[in-house]
Amino acid sequence: MIYNAACAVWLLYALWTSVYRLFFHPLRRIPGPKLAALTQWVETYYECFKPPGGQFMWEYQKWHAKYGPIVRIGPNEVHIQDLRFYDMLYSNSRHSDKLKQLEHRFNNQMGTFSTPEHSLHRLRRTALNPFFSKRKIAQHSPNIQKHMDLLCERVKSEYFQNGSVLSVSNMWGAFNGDIVVGYCLEKGYDFITKPDFRSEFSDAMVNLLDPVHFITQFSWVIKAFKLLPAWMILIMSPAMASVHAFNDEMKEQILRAKSVHASGEKNPAVQQSLFTALFESDLPPSELETKRLQHEAIAVTGGGLETTTYALSVASYHILSNPRVLSRLKAELNEAIPDPRNIPSLDTLMQLPYLNCVMNESLRFSYGTPQRIPRLSPTPITYSGPNADYHIPVGSIVSMDNYTASHDPWAFPSPQEFRPERWEGNPRAPDGKPLTTYMIAFGRGTRSCVGMQLGYANLYIGLVSFFRRFDFSYPEQSLGLKVSE
Ligand code: HEM
Repeated sequence: MIYNAACAVWLLYALWTSVYRLFFHPLRRIPGPKLAALTQWVETYYECFKPPGGQFMWEYQKWHAKYGPIVRIGPNEVHIQDLRFYDMLYSNSRHSDKLKQLEHRFNNQMGTFSTPEHSLHRLRRTALNPFFSKRKIAQHSPNIQKHMDLLCERVKSEYFQNGSVLSVSNMWGAFNGDIVVGYCLEKGYDFITKPDFRSEFSDAMVNLLDPVHFITQFSWVIKAFKLLPAWMILIMSPAMASVHAFNDEMKEQILRAKSVHASGEKNPAVQQSLFTALFESDLPPSELETKRLQHEAIAVTGGGLETTTYALSVASYHILSNPRVLSRLKAELNEAIPDPRNIPSLDTLMQLPYLNCVMNESLRFSYGTPQRIPRLSPTPITYSGPNADYHIPVGSIVSMDNYTASHDPWAFPSPQEFRPERWEGNPRAPDGKPLTTYMIAFGRGTRSCVGMQLGYANLYIGLVSFFRRFDFSYPEQSLGLKVSE
């Protein structure tokens, strides 16, 4: 009897919710498939159950092809596929919240990146900004260069013999991992000395991204996982040992930074770390608790690892597979840098015109975060489509994604072609704005990339040193490249 009544109540609720979502919801006039307007399970199906998972982005692209640049992709979410709207949606003045249900996605919900509320995010972000300022990164750049010089020596001594295969993505992972971890924490891990440039830590950080689609849909899983004892997690995923060790070490570093800050003791490695920067900021004591700082360190290092490694790998891939690009780049580098063992300052590298074009094009293919970036609308917003204006009310979720935005043919004709020349001579987009306005790899607005200057430093110093120092040839009847000095 109670069971029947419960079923009846549930059915009535489901019926009313369906009728409301289809006929009375404020987003009812936005085009899109009715099933997606009815239920969130459409996204869940494509993200978790349609092999190989993570397929929602490709599905809603098909919806855009059918319904146009604005589509209702969920009961309360609108997705826009129009690069011209990017600045408006993510503008500094909109003060949007992120979605609460996404805060556990990377298991660091107290980090700035995951903070949903705009005001708390602002507080945390203001404390991080000076640590990543352009001036600080410029001061640090000679250390990055030294590290890259060591890496080149190792490539020369170990990989020049016949038959040795160099995995460029492992190499960039090791270089970038050392720089990001070394810059933020007391010391780096010298990943560039590891066999084949591989480390358990980098592998584990990448593996942590595997379940992200699933956790995004079922955030309770991560909360349940955290209740398990550490030994059980290690049985399920032995590679997590290195991430656990990293967490433990960070805890020690936080406690050390706290004591050095309180005592005024001289300890340059500790004083230069992210933790000291945060202790010296205006953050209130509640924001300086050990757990919160652990989450911040994971967010910041995690934010810098895969993004920059991917950008370096994508750049290398496209340069090496386009002999024309490689030869123009090499010609510019050879002329500007007579001695490959004496690479000029970061500032000088950033003035090289063709290199800048290669950098922009590589970043266009890197996306930073390719998944859609949703925001809760704090004020109403209007999207002017080709045939009508669409009003999106407060409280709706509005999203765009860097992948489709970076391949928008409106600004980037033949968008899948890697063509650095499209950035040559300060070109304009069709609306007359500089084309660089539409370089969105680092995001925009209050939540854009805090580590952008460090990312640029690694990209410029890494790519210039590698491509200036080594020569590449394409032996006939071989898929590989021959590297020499
Ligand atoms: C080529 C390199 C990089 C690219 C393309 C990139 C891209 C991005 C993008 C698109 C966002 C915004 C994400 C969103 O709104 O959801 C972001 C945020 C962030 N990035 Fe980067 N990033 C790079 C390098 C770095 C580095 C080197 C660090 C630090 C060591 C870093 C740390 C962060 C952090 C902490 C955030 C969150 C900022 C906030 O919420 O206020 N990133 N990055």
